[in-house]
This record gives sequence, structure tokens and C-alpha cells, in this order.
Amino acid sequence: MATIIQLQEVDSTNNYLRALQEKEEQEEGTVVAAYEQSAGRGQRGNTWEAEAGKNLTFSMIFHPQELMASDQFIISQLVSTAIKEVLDRYIPDVSIKWPNDIYYQDKKIGGILIENDLSGYEVFQTIIGIGINVNQDLFLTNAPNPVSMYQITGEEYDLDKLLNEFASQIYINYLDMLDGAEHEIKEVYKNSLYRRKGMHAYEDENGIFLAEVVKTESTGHLVLRDSEGIVRRYAFKEVRFV
Ligand code: BTN
Repeated sequence: MATIIQLQEVDSTNNYLRALQEKEEQEEGTVVAAYEQSAGRGQRGNTWEAEAGKNLTFSMIFHPQELMASDQFIISQLVSTAIKEVLDRYIPDVSIKWPNDIYYQDKKIGGILIENDLSGYEVFQTIIGIGINVNQDLFLTNAPNPVSMYQITGEEYDLDKLLNEFASQIYINYLDMLDGAEHEIKEVYKNSLYRRKGMHAYEDENGIFLAEVVKTESTGHLVLRDSEGIVRRYAFKEVRFV
């Protein structure tokens, strides 16, 4: 296993790991975890709420070789499936809400913020930020519909043990990807998707419609078939689950 750097307080583990890498080359899979983040970042410029000492907030860095920028969604897929795999050991009904939110039933238990740096057409560095709601009992903000492991089972969890499990599984999935297991990772991802079967309500710029998931593409696009049989293809942020 790679090094784990445990911090008391930091603005954001993603920022810290990036600054560390800029100062000195970090070994593959280096983890920076924080007891508390003062400015934890979420997707779409949101903040990430996590009570100090109750949750997992950490980042990992990798330098993939020969990963085309057009295939970068495989990183989201290998990370989200690794997280689901570990959570499945503790709680039921975990799924991945496209593109990479981690859900328990209809609530969000974890989020992922991936920051890829490109060199030409390739991804040369990826910083993967992960927040998992573990022992928090009360959330101050209702967005985005949060839930913790503690709220689900009534049990408290050892954060260090969990961090090791998540980091190891992400590392394993990353090595699998390098070994050519993209197809298997994509299959597991597809089978883990939230609302992967049946018709559900979605909303795009034209309004609300019913559709079923057809597939996700290696670019990360979500392909839906609506109730009239028309296939619709969306990039992240172009459609939302209702
Ligand atoms: C989301 O909005 O779903 C993504 C949340 C990602 C939060 C994690 S916590 C550790 C890492 N550091 C950050 O500032 N954000 C990510």
C-alpha cells in the first residue's frame, strides 16, 4: 500500500495533494486524508459538508500512462465501483448515481471530485477526492440529500480501518485498469448504476420526461431511451434525475 498522510486540518485534501505533488513527485496512490476540511470542495463548485472527525475526506494521486483524455471516464468508474465494493461489506442498497455519486437507496452517502490534468490527448495526472459520510448523525444542509453509514445501521465505524479499505480497493482497481480490465470495470459500473432498470423521471433543458438507461459511454455520456423510444445522449450537467 502507498503512503497515507493524515492531516488534522486543511482547506481541501485535493488542493493539498496537488501542492505536495508540485513540490515533490509523489508515489503512485499516495493518500492525503484530513480530520477536518475548512473548504472542502464538491462538484459544480459546491462545498462539501463533513463534520470534523466523523467522516472520511481524502484524496489519492495517480499518473496513468497512455490513458486517452477521451477515455478518462474509466477513472470515475474504477473509483466509484471500488467505493461501492467496500460499502457493500457494511450496508445494503448501495448504488452509483451517474456519473459518480455514491447512493444508499435515494440518498447520497458519498461524493467524488476527480481533477484530471491533460498533456496533449492524454491524462498524465489524476487527483481523486473522496468524501464518505461515516459517523455523522446530523447534517446542517439538506443538499445533496445526505445520509451516513451511522444513520443507516446505528453503528459507529473505525475511520482508519475504512480509509485503508477504500484506498486499497481503489489501488487494486487502478492496477486492474492498467492490466487491461477496462471492460470488466465498465460492466461492474453498469450493473451498479442507480435506477439502472425501468423507466424513471429525468429533466433536461426542455423539461421533465420518462426514460430508461441504455448505457454510459467511455466519454462519460449517459444514453437514455425515452417513453417514445427516442434515444437521448447527455454530458454531465445536461440532465438531472428528478
Ligand atoms: C461531490 O460534490 O459529490 C464531490 C464531493 C467530494 C468531496 C471530497 S472530500 C475530499 C476531497 N477534497 C475536497 O475538497 N473534495 C473532495
